[in-house]
Amino acid sequence: MASQTAPDVMEKLVSLCKRRGFIFQSSEIYGGAGSVWDYGPLGVELKKNLKDRWWHAMVRKRSDIQGLDAAILMHPRVWEASGHVGGFVDPLVDCRNCKKRFRADDAKIKGTPGTPDAQCPACGMKGTLSEARQFNLMFKTFMGPLEDSAAVVYLRPETAQGIYVNFLNVQQSTRQKVPFGIAQIGKAFRNEITPGNFIFRTREFEQMEMQFFVEPESAMQWFEYWKGERMAWHRSLGLDEGRLRFHQHTDKELAHYAKAAFDVQFDFGGTLGFQEIEGVHHRGNFDLTQHQEFSGKKLEYFDQPNNKRFLPFVIETSVGADRTTLAVLMNAYREESVEGETEGRTVLALHPSLAPIKAGIFPLVKKDGMPEMAKKIAADLRESVTVFYDDSGAIGRRYRRQDEIGTPFCITVDGESTTAGSVTVRDRDTLQQERVDAGKLREYLATKLSA
Ligand code: GAP
Repeated sequence: MASQTAPDVMEKLVSLCKRRGFIFQSSEIYGGAGSVWDYGPLGVELKKNLKDRWWHAMVRKRSDIQGLDAAILMHPRVWEASGHVGGFVDPLVDCRNCKKRFRADDAKIKGTPGTPDAQCPACGMKGTLSEARQFNLMFKTFMGPLEDSAAVVYLRPETAQGIYVNFLNVQQSTRQKVPFGIAQIGKAFRNEITPGNFIFRTREFEQMEMQFFVEPESAMQWFEYWKGERMAWHRSLGLDEGRLRFHQHTDKELAHYAKAAFDVQFDFGGTLGFQEIEGVHHRGNFDLTQHQEFSGKKLEYFDQPNNKRFLPFVIETSVGADRTTLAVLMNAYREESVEGETEGRTVLALHPSLAPIKAGIFPLVKKDGMPEMAKKIAADLRESVTVFYDDSGAIGRRYRRQDEIGTPFCITVDGESTTAGSVTVRDRDTLQQERVDAGKLREYLATKLSA
């Protein structure tokens, strides 16, 4: 869906990400691996900060949610029980002429695939598109040395199943009482037919998922509660209010497991427009029922005070770490003119807690004890925050380099610093500078960064 409001900055952002070390194409020197991306020095910090914020909000800050880190490889029966072996499929068509592949529901295909009038959206030939066939999105591999059907295992296509199969392990070991949740962050893999748009849809990605186990009667209330909490979390990242909205799944859109679902959508601009970044799902007791049946092990919760056993309902919140990283980057990207300067600047107006580098530290010139003092400040601050020491080029250029990677503060040691013991601190967004006692910098940054 084309966006009415948000600018299309994808091309510029992809270039900035490569140039400044946020994100590189995987195996680039070999021509690249299809829709797989590597996070460089700044990207890994940015994504880690995002994941830390999620972990803090969903696990550390709450007494009713426990963390988990389940393995990627699971017993193959898990994926039969979850419905992924039978149902995690997309309809796929091939063009016999240009060999390209498409989802059968691709809006660019004219006519019905498999009939003579159907036209390939890539090469334009008519009658070359195959009939739609079902394609399972799970990656298969083999466990152990034999590559036979008994050894088939899958790379997990979602992290959620690791939580369901550990439901009682976590509940009993932590003595949590329903309602409570289990959260985890981890890699997921999907052999997407049409990946693309940079890190928006990839074949290897990270999810941050939480399953909240509740009494069936209160499931709808918890569903509403988690919708509100999750939208508030996205706003807390600094994503513009006008670029966030809910989308309610229609009956046709609902996944096989869902009783109700809302997506949190972000406006990515350009031709992408509003797209899902998170799903909030009311899954009923589908998953626990399935695993109970397929494993033959009871997964009921025992409610001691009321002396009753039941399978809890589940409210799931499932957000992509990579897709949200893209949303955060797109939301932050600005090109601005600067008063009194001929050259404009590119800024990533990232929320300070997400910025990969918190402070740039510069000696104004490379003499008179300034580099020594700046290096000492950098070493001291490095104990608590990420900093970057830079003494090369004009000071204006050094500011611009930090603006472009979203560094919220730049600290400059100038002529006055070595005698007065104070430095200037420049704010990325307001461009205002204030003098701060060098000995109080740690405290100063801590206050600013926690705001
Ligand atoms: N357990 C439920 C589940 O996996 P989903 O809507 O398929 O739900 C949740 O995925 C989130 O994972 C999405 O909102 C998106 O942010 C992210 N995601 C899904 N597929 C992705 C892909 N191929 N590349 C990047 N992120 C993806």
